[in-house]
Amino acid sequence: MSMPVPQAVAPVFITEELTRRAAHRPDYLQQTLALQELAREMVDNPDHVLPRLVDIAIDMCDSVSGGISLFEPDPPPGVFRWQHLRGDLEKFTGATTPRNFSPCGITLDNRAPILVQRPERVYTWLQDAKVSLPECLLVPLYLGGNEPLGTLWIVSEEEGHFDSGHSDVMLDLAAFTGIALKMAQNERRLKEALEQQETVTREMGHRVKNVFAIIDAMIRMGARGAGTVKELGDGLSGRVHALATAHGLVRRTFDSKGLPREASDFADVIGTILRPYERSGNKVSGPPVRIGSNATNNVALLFHELATNAAKYGALSEDGGSVRIAWQVADDRLCIAWVERGGPPIAAMPERKGFGTLLSEKTIAAALGGTIAYDWQAAGLSVVLSVPLDRLTR
Ligand SMILES: Nc1ncnc2c1ncn2[C@@H]1O[C@H](COP(=O)(O)OP(=O)(O)OP(=O)(O)O)[C@@H](O)[C@H]1O
Ligand SMILES: [Mg+2]
Repeated sequence: MSMPVPQAVAPVFITEELTRRAAHRPDYLQQTLALQELAREMVDNPDHVLPRLVDIAIDMCDSVSGGISLFEPDPPPGVFRWQHLRGDLEKFTGATTPRNFSPCGITLDNRAPILVQRPERVYTWLQDAKVSLPECLLVPLYLGGNEPLGTLWIVSEEEGHFDSGHSDVMLDLAAFTGIALKMAQNERRLKEALEQQETVTREMGHRVKNVFAIIDAMIRMGARGAGTVKELGDGLSGRVHALATAHGLVRRTFDSKGLPREASDFADVIGTILRPYERSGNKVSGPPVRIGSNATNNVALLFHELATNAAKYGALSEDGGSVRIAWQVADDRLCIAWVERGGPPIAAMPERKGFGTLLSEKTIAAALGGTIAYDWQAAGLSVVLSVPLDRLTR
């Protein structure tokens, strides 16, 4: 169904002339050879297909210049951008024309070839660019036959040049262009998907490396301080288990620029590490904080040490005991309080630091750039941790 051309621009639209003029005999051989060449390019040099198409259109229709106008819908109502320009108009590559005030727009609306004569008589942007087009033949382009994409157009230096033979050739070429563009789009999407895949693989590599570094430190430090082989084995096993649990919490998210990153929710990490020590009085509270994959490992280790100690010596060693963990964000730091109540009374600060304490101190200082302070109150241990937020996002 063809739409009426707006009154204001109607004088330059002479599409009905195409059928009125005597059609020249199409050169089928030339056309077949051209399509064969394009098919070859599509396989060998997909980037060359569109410029070649314009060349062939110009060639086969005895034109002097031409190009492709690609429709860019955003922001509405959108524009057409001139691409793959050939001939005199080449210098306008990249220029745009209004969606709703151009022969291209009318060609897309009509879904059929359009012929215009000296369109600069009504289109001010052509006058502004000092462009004169004695005759311009346009055909609509559809991505894979469906999605409106723009137009393919050619220009003649003389009025009365184009006939229905030319518009038939252009329609064939436009159909081919639609397929070529669809293939180019598929290829681009495939490439993007592969690049994303590569990012994921790289991130995984980082995570695995970090975990190995942590485990290596654990083994070396543990071996130095362990009493028996069983103690060393049990300690390591518990810590590796905490790391494995943390690993499962890391999820892929996207930052404000749409870049993918690996992160977990701080409350999730704490909740998961504490799960084996559930008590009705336990309480975990604080605002949502997203932490990076590396920080997730280290936070899991820290709270694993605190929880196992609480279960061995502190509040979680008795039925009525419990732990409260609360955090807040202030001055670009995350401040976390760990408070044990209801366990055996603490007489004094412990005399010796075990491996767990050394590991915690090293983790907080070296891996997270933060601080940890122990307060050995009679009612139970309290610990305050403070970590810069920018270290937590890593
Ligand atoms: N929550 C707690 N309540 C009471 N005492 C504690 C608590 N946490 C630690 N302690 C005391 O501090 C000491 C040092 O703890 P640390 O975690 O460094 O070593 P560990 O637990 O004995 O050994 P490891 O952690 O290597 O298994 C403990 O032996 C214990 O006496
Ligand atoms: Mg310990």
